[in-house]
Amino acid sequence: MQVVDNNVGISSPFSNSDRPVVRTLELSKRFKKVYAVKDAGLEAYAGDVFGLLGPNGAGKTTIIRMMLGLLAPSAGSVEVFGFSPTKQRAEVLKRVSAIVEAPALYPSLTGRDNLKTMAMVAGVNNPAKLDEVIEKMGLAARAKDRFGTYSLGMKQRLCIAAALLTDPQLIILDEPTNGLDPAGMAEIRQLIKELASQGRTVFLSSHLLNEVQQVCNRVAVIQKGKIIAQGLVEELLAGKTSLRIKVLPDDWEKAKRILQSQGWADRFHSEEDFLVVDAPASEGVAINRALATQGVFAGEIYARSQTLEEYYLELTGE
Ligand SMILES: Nc1ncnc2c1ncn2[C@@H]1O[C@H](COP(=O)(O)OP(=O)(O)OP(=O)(O)O)[C@@H](O)[C@H]1O
Ligand SMILES: [Mg+2]
Repeated sequence: MQVVDNNVGISSPFSNSDRPVVRTLELSKRFKKVYAVKDAGLEAYAGDVFGLLGPNGAGKTTIIRMMLGLLAPSAGSVEVFGFSPTKQRAEVLKRVSAIVEAPALYPSLTGRDNLKTMAMVAGVNNPAKLDEVIEKMGLAARAKDRFGTYSLGMKQRLCIAAALLTDPQLIILDEPTNGLDPAGMAEIRQLIKELASQGRTVFLSSHLLNEVQQVCNRVAVIQKGKIIAQGLVEELLAGKTSLRIKVLPDDWEKAKRILQSQGWADRFHSEEDFLVVDAPASEGVAINRALATQGVFAGEIYARSQTLEEYYLELTGE
């Protein structure tokens, strides 16, 4: 953590730990006549794994580029650790590492030499640090092989190793698991969680809902440049439970009539062998009793929280 005396101009970004690490206000970016991002308000806090979730072309990379000062906003503002990425770029970059789209590394250099080059560019003059990140990313056995011979997963890990050289407080990953197999994805998720548990903030973009649900505590959903929902995953999905009741085919119509008579008429649908009632788990006993007293015995009954995917589909009406 860097604390700079207010009197010398640059205020301490972390003087208030409740202050967002990333904050955008009515952030917009227009390319010619088209808005890639429109009035986006985002907040990510220290220790968050923040997921910016949206389909191709939604504006995710554009937001990330503005967070890094690679693009200037057309309107609105973005702050990273309280600094403006365009006006105070050095202050931002000191604390941030990012992997945006496919990073360019040298295929004919070894993994280690690529890292060494990047360490030099980043002003990190510490061979022990190189070994540390190589070890951390599980690359020790292949560090002396040429980068060009690495699998996609290993290339990705080397890029993340490079991002960790400067001990960043904020790590920005644009689609970190793109092209990885399930084992590679799980590995990256594990690493992301580890980084966040050290108090760092991870800001990632993805269109993989399931993936985001597994790793992010906070998300924002972006659609055609607009943020249509954001918050803690737990809070967004709170109260969105459903009860799943397995009913024999012969009992199907009767069970539906019972649910209707119990006031659930607009709140159930069927999914394969199950009647799905939008109800909290606490209603399970009453519903089960109503069914059983009228001779319908549930083969299975359980409550399940809405997944991020279901939430997203409901939200976007897709
Ligand atoms: N430099 C540019 N000039 C013109 N249009 C651009 C530029 N960069 C992005 N766009 C447009 O802005 C929109 C948002 O693009 P962006 O790359 O931010 O989407 P994304 O959410 O990252 O998509 P993906 O999931 O495919 O990476 C797209 O319609 C894209 O074509
Ligand atoms: Mg993108």
